[in-house]
Amino acid sequence: MADQYARSGDDIRPTGIPTIRWDEPPEGPVLVLLDQTRLPAEEVELVCTDAPALVEAIRSLAVRGAPLLGIAGAYGVALAAVRGFDVEEAADALEGARPTAVNLAVGVRRARAAHRAELGRSGDRKQAAEAALAAARALHREDAEASSRMAAHGLVLLDELLPGGGHRVLTHCNTGSLVSGGEGTAFAVALAAHRVGRLRRLWVDETRPLLQGARLTAYEAARSGMAYTLLTDNAAGSLFAAGEVDAVLVGADRIAADGSVANKIGTYPLAVLARYHHVPFIVVAPVTTIDLGTPDGASIEVEQRASHEVTEITAPQVPMAGAEAGGGIAVAPLGTQAYNPAFDVTPPELVTAIVTEEGAVSPVTADALAELCDRSRQVTI
Ligand code: MRU
Repeated sequence: MADQYARSGDDIRPTGIPTIRWDEPPEGPVLVLLDQTRLPAEEVELVCTDAPALVEAIRSLAVRGAPLLGIAGAYGVALAAVRGFDVEEAADALEGARPTAVNLAVGVRRARAAHRAELGRSGDRKQAAEAALAAARALHREDAEASSRMAAHGLVLLDELLPGGGHRVLTHCNTGSLVSGGEGTAFAVALAAHRVGRLRRLWVDETRPLLQGARLTAYEAARSGMAYTLLTDNAAGSLFAAGEVDAVLVGADRIAADGSVANKIGTYPLAVLARYHHVPFIVVAPVTTIDLGTPDGASIEVEQRASHEVTEITAPQVPMAGAEAGGGIAVAPLGTQAYNPAFDVTPPELVTAIVTEEGAVSPVTADALAELCDRSRQVTI
């Protein structure tokens, strides 16, 4: 069964605890997550001893963000394998935990394929488990490398689009080291600009309803020493109108073959605003987020989440247990149904560029994306 325990308070290292780590205490291997539902109030670890515990952590957003979901999924398969559980069953459950972020499926499939291949070759379960773990570790490492390459490409693009520096960048949701083996996607580009003195301000959308911007991006920006300002999502329009936004930088959960971008709900309105105000709208994502098997935006499955995430406010330090629905403070009449899609889809014609570790695509077309994926495969093989 899931054995989850928390460690918080005085023993937190000054640099913070890792977002995700594999550990092998005497009681057996575990996957240790930084519980993102508790940030920024507390830095608390969540320990998963089996795939069902990890599935629950994924659904509750204790672990979240497209690239990190891929890494977590791969480690989840390895965890099932080393602990002697049914690997195929665990992989199916992990892959189905959240539908939109394609990286989750990519990570799970990679570890599952390594496990199957080694089991087929040697018939040895221990060796197959080691192969799954090696695949997860490789994905983790590659994601860190992809982060720094995306940051470098993104910075070059920003400087081309906005010569002179002093960038005022608006971002949405959370895309920094909390979603990655490295420094993230869109946030990593802003961070690179900050490090070379060219970021004047990071505008941080709070990102209703679960406040990934307020709770997580503001936390990362503060730790990085950036000049940042938090705004409610619906204040973005007035910021554009005032001429205070030079570029929008966001991540992605799935990019369809035609360049349609699924990302956190509220991204599409920003793209519309950016187009109206002639501001570049830049998507930053690893190649693993491009899904050539999904032809267009309409084919992307958008996760629908529970009403209580909208009808209640749940502060990170408020205990969730023992209350009705989500256990938060009600802000709508009892029984109110909410429309709560986790993501929206931005059409390619509103996207100025997609920045990946293999370089930027602009304009965003199906041919350019296919060519980029092809090039990436050649580099990887
Ligand atoms: O529901 P979440 O918090 O997992 O959504 C995350 C996002 O939408 C991010 O913007 C996206 O995964 C890109 S992360 C690099």
